[in-house]
Amino acid sequence: MDQINLRDMQALAKKRLPRLLYDYLDGGTHDELTLNGNIGDFERLKFIPPVLADVSQVDLSTTIFGERLSMPLILGPVGSLGVLSRRGDIATARAAEACGITSCLSTTAVASVEEVCAARKEPIWFQLYVMKEPGHHDQLIQRAKAARCKALVFTVDSAVSAQRDRDLRHGYSYTGKVRPSNLLDMLTRVAWIRDVLFGPRLSFGSMPGGKSNYKRIMAKAGGGLIAKDVTWDTFREIRAKWDGPLVIKGVMTPQDALKALGYGADGIVVSNHGGRQLDSAISSIMALGPIVDAVNDRAVVMMDGGIRRGQHVVKALAMGAKACLIGRGYAYGLAARGQAGVEQSIEMLRKEMAMTMGMLGCREVGELRRELLHDGQWTF
Ligand SMILES: Cc1cc2nc3c(=O)[nH]c(=O)nc-3n(C[C@H](O)[C@H](O)[C@H](O)COP(=O)(O)O)c2cc1C
Repeated sequence: MDQINLRDMQALAKKRLPRLLYDYLDGGTHDELTLNGNIGDFERLKFIPPVLADVSQVDLSTTIFGERLSMPLILGPVGSLGVLSRRGDIATARAAEACGITSCLSTTAVASVEEVCAARKEPIWFQLYVMKEPGHHDQLIQRAKAARCKALVFTVDSAVSAQRDRDLRHGYSYTGKVRPSNLLDMLTRVAWIRDVLFGPRLSFGSMPGGKSNYKRIMAKAGGGLIAKDVTWDTFREIRAKWDGPLVIKGVMTPQDALKALGYGADGIVVSNHGGRQLDSAISSIMALGPIVDAVNDRAVVMMDGGIRRGQHVVKALAMGAKACLIGRGYAYGLAARGQAGVEQSIEMLRKEMAMTMGMLGCREVGELRRELLHDGQWTF
């Protein structure tokens, strides 16, 4: 088999995608210190393995918000998946279902929330950005409710538009305009052209107004679409409008986690947006432990950022996370091979997780605990 791990999927995605799209997916803010730190800190954290436990059966399954998942992994919200692969948002949601897990659709998805929900049996999660346009998020909440989304994931770390240097160099923006140098590179990616450019017209289907609103949304995108005046009052307002599980995504401090509990959050995603917002922010795995301790089981604590191996998921669970979200990890698979590529990426992580848990003497995810971890420093 040519692809045995996520790095192999990443290499295939790099080959298939036009350079500016690969860099949109792969890149982070400024010097990418946080992007690299998310991965590097997972690698610095070590295991201390006990021996002689019966590990003939290893069960990865878990329950989140009453839903049984075959493993504690959720495909996190990634905008514009439909530009990486034809109907990429739908392919992603279907792959998650085929693998017995769930996925979260981005506000900036190409497909609409209705289309994606109709494409699978079990409801998905929906990620909410509060946009500058008044009333947008109210309409989105209503649409997510009507489409029977299971959980609403409110992303709170993106009020300021980040400078992603790779995007800037390419002149990449949501306006969809392409420079001549990018056009030449694009023309060499024949498989992507056939798959995406010859496919359905690209849009922002989950935006209020849907496809007909596309031009207006694009025209405004240059100034940043996301509202800058989002506060805890906004959170309170959203809580009042959404009666299902409400998850806050982008929390990095125990103080904010406690505040979120006070405002009625059911779940918390410890996340620095995969290093795409504040550069030099600490890694998610470093932020996780103190948040788990502060929350003390009063909400579902999850994390994302830097997961490229099943071992990384196991480390996060041992630190106390209930589940992990991934972004680039599955999106590389999608760009490489569509739905089959996403499924392949999930199964790679599953295999690595099961093997790692077995080697740690753990038969189920509930047996993972912090004493199995070592911070990588010598002690005498
Ligand atoms: C290309 C790209 C687009 C993203 N779009 C969104 C988005 O629309 N909404 C959101 O909440 N997070 C978004 N994220 C952040 C992911 O949900 C997630 O926090 C991050 O990718 C986790 O890091 P990882 O890629 O190392 O797994 C995006 C990430 C990437 C890479």
